Amino acid sequence: MNNQTPHVEPIRLVVVPDVLSMAARGADEIEVVLKDAAQPVLGLATGGTMEHLYPELIRRFQAGKISFRNATTFNLDEYYPIEATHPQSYRCFMGEKLFNYVDLTLTPVEGARWGQTFVPNVGGEHVGAVCLGYEQAIIKAGGIDVQILGIGKNGHIAFNEPGTSPWSRTRIVKLAENTREANARYFGSSADVPEFAVTMGISTILEADKIVLLASGEGKAAAIKRALTGPVSADCPASYLQLHPNVTFIVDRAAARDLALP
Ligand code: GLP
Repeated sequence: MNNQTPHVEPIRLVVVPDVLSMAARGADEIEVVLKDAAQPVLGLATGGTMEHLYPELIRRFQAGKISFRNATTFNLDEYYPIEATHPQSYRCFMGEKLFNYVDLTLTPVEGARWGQTFVPNVGGEHVGAVCLGYEQAIIKAGGIDVQILGIGKNGHIAFNEPGTSPWSRTRIVKLAENTREANARYFGSSADVPEFAVTMGISTILEADKIVLLASGEGKAAAIKRALTGPVSADCPASYLQLHPNVTFIVDRAAARDLALP
């Protein structure tokens, strides 16, 4: 019998004054991986929070501080069904916010439809095959060096909604109504937000070497508190991050509001 107690490091909490400092600290984490790894593998996210991070990465690229030339990127999730060309698809979001402005190849190479960038957009393919293929592509790339995450007000990470199993992998999920409402701002109304999504699972995310979660604003304060200090529970999928040995939360003061800090 193995009587060793597993050693899990607590989540590192970095509280910064504002959203711009959050973006700068998040970009630092990516810069380290881009500089240190021969073939960096980045796990990327979408959402309003990331709209602060990506301009900072573009600035550093334009200043010659970082290059994505040898990198491969995997996005967490994508709506389903949605065309890759739909302006609200996460494929489009990534093109507009980051991919089109840095030195990543976006044309097909060796069967990869968008070169060095992966987003789980199903297109006309079989959804199960796309999910399995996504997991295989991550393994083939050597695993994710750093996974960037946002957090939903209900504690979701990627599109892993409350109730998600810790053993979940890339799959199709039904979106929670409050998530569709939160994302209605992009589509015009919540009825226009697709009902489903393809998302990396909790197990997929926990296999990354390092995880960096970014959050800003009071609206995230309750979810941040539950993720950091609550029980590890399917009620708050972000709480599963407590099980990973190398996680950093970078949050602004507003998002840290509910934490008892000195
Ligand atoms: C979406 C994404 C998540 C993201 C979350 C928070 O639902 N699938 O990956 O973390 O929203 O988004 P925002 O940064 O806009 O608050």
